[in-house]
Amino acid sequence: MDSYVVFGNPVGHSKSPAIHRLFAEQTGQALDYSTLLAPIDGFTSCALGFFKEGLGANVTVPFKEQAFSLCSVLTPRAQRAGAVNMLSRLPDGGLRGDNTDGVGLVRDLVDNADVTLQGKRILLLGAGGAVRGVIEPLLEQRPLSLVIANRTVEKAEQLAQLFADLGPVAASGFDWLEEPVDIIINATSASLAGDLPPIASSLIEPGVTVCYDMMYGKEPTPFCRWASEHGARLSLDGFGMLVEQAAEAFTYWRGVAVDTAPVLSRLRREMAVG
Ligand code: ATR
Repeated sequence: MDSYVVFGNPVGHSKSPAIHRLFAEQTGQALDYSTLLAPIDGFTSCALGFFKEGLGANVTVPFKEQAFSLCSVLTPRAQRAGAVNMLSRLPDGGLRGDNTDGVGLVRDLVDNADVTLQGKRILLLGAGGAVRGVIEPLLEQRPLSLVIANRTVEKAEQLAQLFADLGPVAASGFDWLEEPVDIIINATSASLAGDLPPIASSLIEPGVTVCYDMMYGKEPTPFCRWASEHGARLSLDGFGMLVEQAAEAFTYWRGVAVDTAPVLSRLRREMAVG
């Protein structure tokens, strides 16, 4: 059977197999999608082994940069991001790399949550691997400004420079920011440790500002709780982004469109009880 995996370490709790199985069921596609735990120091041989037979893979933490360097073909957005979350086997046996994280984020905000990005002041927290893939798709929405704020300011400055030709992008430290913005996206890994990036609550204009955490969990993340407590108009987690980036991959691999809404609501229900 046509075989797909998600690579990660850890990867056991990944929701990607459940998402792709539901897409397969919905579209009547016969395929197998499972997790593949790659050793931290052995991603390359694990990936090359899988692709002797396998057709496609998603890539999650911490392998997105290593996956990038395996590709013989890269989409322009993956090239610029320097990281891929999706690998596809080419007819010549080489690998094509793409980065669908940003499209997933934009779709979840614009289509699912009905949030307009055009003309808005967007603040992006973090400057690591999770941010690289989302800057270009966010700038394509023509925001008024996109500020990348990071604990280590130099990393935010490097990213702002790298994407400067695509739109109004600037770098900042967390404590330089006070004025309210329209949208705050948390792409730091602070939530993993139950932490919050140290930003002022004055950045939230109650009833106006939309807050989005690229992380998700059974319970609201610390950032989502902080946003709700300070009156954010919406406080969203990253589960929708995960489902939307998966839809992008599924459609590319199988050549069929999927309806993400029923998949999202079913898995959210299962997460709440599970
Ligand atoms: P990922 O691939 O998930 O982005 P990463 O490349 O290690 O992981 O990046 C983690 C990001 O979260 C970085 O922007 C990091 O800030 P630094 O560049 O200053 O290290 C940020 N981060 C992690 N823990 C944080 C915390 N407790 N508060 C604020 N930022 C944090």
